Amino acid sequence: MSGAQYDQESMDRAAEALRSPRGTVVLTGAGISVESGIPDFRSPGGIWSKYPPEEYATIDAFYANPDRVWELWYELADSLRNVKPNPAHLALADLEEMGVVQAVITQNIDALHFHGGSVNVVEYHGSMDWLVCPACHRRRKLGLDQRALGAPRCECGGYMKPDIVLFGEVIPHQALHHADALARRCGAFMVVGTSALVYPAAHLPRLAKESGAVVIECNTAPTGLTETVTDIYLEGSAGATLPALVRRVRGG
Ligand code: APR
Repeated sequence: MSGAQYDQESMDRAAEALRSPRGTVVLTGAGISVESGIPDFRSPGGIWSKYPPEEYATIDAFYANPDRVWELWYELADSLRNVKPNPAHLALADLEEMGVVQAVITQNIDALHFHGGSVNVVEYHGSMDWLVCPACHRRRKLGLDQRALGAPRCECGGYMKPDIVLFGEVIPHQALHHADALARRCGAFMVVGTSALVYPAAHLPRLAKESGAVVIECNTAPTGLTETVTDIYLEGSAGATLPALVRRVRGG
């Protein structure tokens, strides 16, 4: 699905909420990168339909069979090589430059918010650009030329993993606390392209609402938040909806 299905009144209310003097914080998920050509996880044909997460994306699966788990990570890294930010990423960067958006908290590991010009980005689930050794914590850049060798090895002899949060791992302390503080302080909290099923990220919209924020949701289909937490639901693709929202905030 693409395009916009939201009604104009919801768009006006969202633009008004974004002008809150307490600022806006945005939580993004895989849906925002779909229009850059990266499939999401849980939609039909999503990544988890080919690579079941319990077999490929848990810390236990990594320790049990690193070469197998790296099949997915190499494929994902390969698919990220030539992707570009789409109008939704650019719109969020515009809103930050306008002083409307304070920060983007992303569950995505594709670095597209940075490439799109956003500055204050919390990479809640880490980044695919880096490797880390779980044994000695050495980090280095991921090199796709190592793919034929299987799981990359650390100088200490252990297997390296991408510096991302696998199922069964905890969110790094700094990202966790920074995101919580942002959610508690903002006047508007905008959720874009996430099914909001994976915790603790999925808890942030509720935390923001309990702290007095207006929750805006932009998604192609309703989620568990839509009827319970969301105040303003903008149904449609992020690539169509967010640029329209920028124009509306600018007064167009
Ligand atoms: N615009 C807006 N929303 C979209 C678009 C689009 N073009 N395309 C899809 N969506 C919506 C889907 O309807 C769905 O609600 O984006 C959401 C994507 O949800 P998921 O595939 O579950 O991805 P995400 O929420 O980011 O997953 C969270 O779970 O798989 C783990 O660690 C992984 O970070 C990921 C986390």
